[in-house]
Amino acid sequence: MKHLLSIEDLGGDGITALLELTDRFVEVSERRIPKVPALLGKTVVSLFYEDSTRTRLSFETAAKRLSADTMNFSVGTSSVNKGESLRDTVETIEAMGVDAIVVRHGSAGVPWQITGWVDCSVINAGDGGHEHPTQALLDCYTIRQHCGSLRGRHIAIVGDIKHSRVARSDMLAFVAMGAEVTLVAPQTLLPARLDGWPVKVSHDLDAVLPTADVVYLLRMQRERMHEMLIPSLREYTTCYGMTAERAARLPKNALIMHPGPMNRGVEISAEVAGLVNAVIIDQVKNGVAVRMAVLFLLLGSGYGLANIVDAVPTAEGGRQ
Ligand code: NCD
Repeated sequence: MKHLLSIEDLGGDGITALLELTDRFVEVSERRIPKVPALLGKTVVSLFYEDSTRTRLSFETAAKRLSADTMNFSVGTSSVNKGESLRDTVETIEAMGVDAIVVRHGSAGVPWQITGWVDCSVINAGDGGHEHPTQALLDCYTIRQHCGSLRGRHIAIVGDIKHSRVARSDMLAFVAMGAEVTLVAPQTLLPARLDGWPVKVSHDLDAVLPTADVVYLLRMQRERMHEMLIPSLREYTTCYGMTAERAARLPKNALIMHPGPMNRGVEISAEVAGLVNAVIIDQVKNGVAVRMAVLFLLLGSGYGLANIVDAVPTAEGGRQ
C-alpha cells in the first residue's frame, strides 16, 4: 500500500490488521525510550493548509518515534502568501527528497490530486468535509480497547454530520468493523442525501441514548457553514448537547467520544468531558500509535499488510 487517502483503502480486514499493528506501537510508546529505528533515513513532511493541534502534532510525534526526519509546512509563513500554487508547492517540497506528505486541505480531493504530481506516499489528514481516515482508525482502536470489539455495538454519531469529514470516515470504518451506526442531528445538519449510507438516522438524541454503546459528539463546524443552519447554539445544546443528565441515561460503561477540538458547553458539557467513560484523552493518546502504524505500513520497506505485524522492531531494536 502506497497512500492512505480514504478509510476505504483499507476495508474491514485492512483496518483489523492495522489495529493489530497499532498494539505493537502502543507497546513501543510505553517504553522508557519510546523510539525505534524503523524509519531511520526517511523524511515525513506535514503540509497543513488548515488549522490543527492534535493531528499535526500526532503525526510529527509518530514520525519521530519511528526515527524519521520531519519537516513542517505552515501556510501562514510560506510562499503560498506570495501566490504559489498547490502544485508548485508540492513539487518544491518533493524536490527536497521526502518519503511521505501528510496533507490537510480545505478542499475535498486534494490528497488524491497530489498523488498525480509526486512519487512519494500521500496521507490524507483531512480534506474539506470529505474524509479523515487516521481519525477513524484511532477511534476504532479506542472503541476496541474499551469494548473488546466493534461488532454489534451501537454507535451514535451526534451533531454537525453535514460538514464532518470525521463522521464520514468514522461511519465507513465503524460499519466495516461490524458496528451499527445511527446519525443523530437536526435535518439541517445532515447531508442533503444519505442514499447508500449504511446507517440509521434520528433527530431525537434522547430516544437513542438508552441503546447506545458509544456516543460520538461532533463540533459545530461553523468555519464550513455559509448560512444559518440552526436557530441558535443554545437551542442546539438544549436538544443535542451531551449534559450530565443525558450521560446518566446511557447504558453503564457506554463510551463518550469526541475528535476534538471540543466546544465545552455546546456539544458537550465540561462535566461530561471529565467523566471516566469520556475517553477523549485516550483517543489522542492512541492517535500517536495509530499514526506510527500507518507510517510504518506505508514507508516500512514494503511489508505486506498480512505479515507486517511480525516485521515491527522488537524491544531490542532489531526485527523479529
Ligand atoms: C477534526 C477535524 O479537523 O476534522 N479534528 C481532528 O482532526 N481531531 C474535527 C473538528 O475540527 O471538529
